[in-house]
Amino acid sequence: MATRLVVIRRLGFVQQAVGPTRSVFASFLGFVLLCSVSISLAQTEIQPEQTVAITSKGSVVATREMVVAAHPLAVDAGLKILERGGVAIDAMVAVQMVLNLVEPQSSGIGGGAFLLYHDAQTQSLISLDGREFAPQRVDETMFLNDDGKPRRWVDMVPGGLSVGVPGTLALMDHAHARFGRLEWDTLFEQAIALATNGFAVSPRLSKSLEGYGGKRLQKFTEASDYFFPNGRPLQPGDLLKNPQFVKTLKTIQRDRGESFYRGQIAGEIVASVRESVLNAGVMDKADLAAYQTIERTPVCSQYRGHQICGMGPPSSGGVTVAQILGILEFFNLDMLGPDHPMTWHLFVEAGKLAFADRNLFLADPDFTEAPIDALLARDYLRNRAALIDLNSAMAVPVKAGTPFESVSLSPDTRDGLPGTSHVSIVDRDGNAVSLTTTIESGFGSGLFTSGFLLNNELTDFSFRPQKNGKPVANRVEPRKRPRSSMAPTIIYGPDGSLKYVLGSPGGSRIISYVAQMIVALIDFDMSPQVAVNQGRISSRNGSVDIEKETGMLAFASTLRSRGNSVKERDLNSGIHVIKVESDQLTGGADPRREGIVLGR
Ligand code: GLY
Repeated sequence: MATRLVVIRRLGFVQQAVGPTRSVFASFLGFVLLCSVSISLAQTEIQPEQTVAITSKGSVVATREMVVAAHPLAVDAGLKILERGGVAIDAMVAVQMVLNLVEPQSSGIGGGAFLLYHDAQTQSLISLDGREFAPQRVDETMFLNDDGKPRRWVDMVPGGLSVGVPGTLALMDHAHARFGRLEWDTLFEQAIALATNGFAVSPRLSKSLEGYGGKRLQKFTEASDYFFPNGRPLQPGDLLKNPQFVKTLKTIQRDRGESFYRGQIAGEIVASVRESVLNAGVMDKADLAAYQTIERTPVCSQYRGHQICGMGPPSSGGVTVAQILGILEFFNLDMLGPDHPMTWHLFVEAGKLAFADRNLFLADPDFTEAPIDALLARDYLRNRAALIDLNSAMAVPVKAGTPFESVSLSPDTRDGLPGTSHVSIVDRDGNAVSLTTTIESGFGSGLFTSGFLLNNELTDFSFRPQKNGKPVANRVEPRKRPRSSMAPTIIYGPDGSLKYVLGSPGGSRIISYVAQMIVALIDFDMSPQVAVNQGRISSRNGSVDIEKETGMLAFASTLRSRGNSVKERDLNSGIHVIKVESDQLTGGADPRREGIVLGR
């Protein structure tokens, strides 16, 4: 291990080394930029949220406030709230409620969310856990067959069994009660108007109905009636109204979620789950009444003089992003630059090491101790970085480290599939919201009740409670929150001031997307939109995924020659970022989705 680090030092891109110039690396170890690449055909993978079109988007600059989210109508609703004197938390509620309506496949009050909030007045950072939890009446065998084998993931997505008790509405209520400025009831006007008068179905929503998510929806009468009127999928431009959601919105506007968690809407959710024609679930009204948003300590770590803050467990997002960066910090990526294959070799290897730890250790911290300090200790990460061989790829799966004594667990190695939505907001007072919000798979469980879709978040648990006689930390337990990969992020600059607000959808690839963005912004000093536009690369301790039809494919041959299995894929990130400077805000919206940046 020590020998390897010495070798790395001699080559000059450990952080503290006095390194050779960039030109040395251009010929280093036979790494070359490859003009032509041969990649196997895109692998088949269920894509609940595929890319519909890549839209060119330029940087947007503003001086006072800014909203970036996945649909223009949602962004508009948020900006209107800011214009009326609202603060970032007020705008977040308005954006989420409109997203629920216009991007129903990704997020909504039937799901869960994580929020990072920078409060300008107190210069403090708060993280809120609005993750769903499992009903009281589940046990760790819920996803096993009679013969004790795990059931097929794809069979467990639809219907009531996988529905977790939703947390997004409770999170919004909690955040608004603490940090909101406008009256709660004013935050729903835009969503109510759009649901009443109708909105134009977007190409992305329409296209999503053609695929896997659409087939699932057609198994359920309520969802079929709404998304397939007269048996035909909604088409781009169709005017869609949602009178049931109007009723729900007006109820929430009046009672802040009382009916949702303890009243009539709770009854409708429970009936939908328990009477599901597929996979009937066991949620009851006591589960909804017991739901609580949890304020947790954010996970913050240093990276090249910046403080990177993310969401701690039950999300694995913050810790795993911090581990990837903590390992990369031992290498001078800025010397290598984004065009050097060594950069991506290091990125891929760091991803393998971090995902190995994630899979073993991270789960709901109220059930399994989360050894965050040990996982992020600099000496531990130095030892992990020293495992990286510059000439060859580590064979996967890489084993987790031993950051602390007495570990006796088995890993949960399943990868989540892309779903979810991300919202970034900065207001004129300098408050910032980074919200990642989800109903899990595209269209969640397919159960549509009171005008919104219910999640299938419980499929984020390990289906196996134990392996080789050792328990899996992320096994199902009553009232436990499934491990997430969502990584809402807020970054402070070397002077301690707010610098970046970002996050992405994308299942467990969220972690790769966010880490890659941070490297682009900090190491390569890319502008937000240029960084968002970069081709994506993801490494989760398995194959390396590279986004099809992008310049990132130039590194495929080199990565493959090092021993990686490289797959070309539709990597459908949805990164929404705001860069904060003393005199301006600069936003970037992902060209792979329909989001925009608006500021003033
Ligand atoms: N369901 C996506 C996530 O929580 O990571």
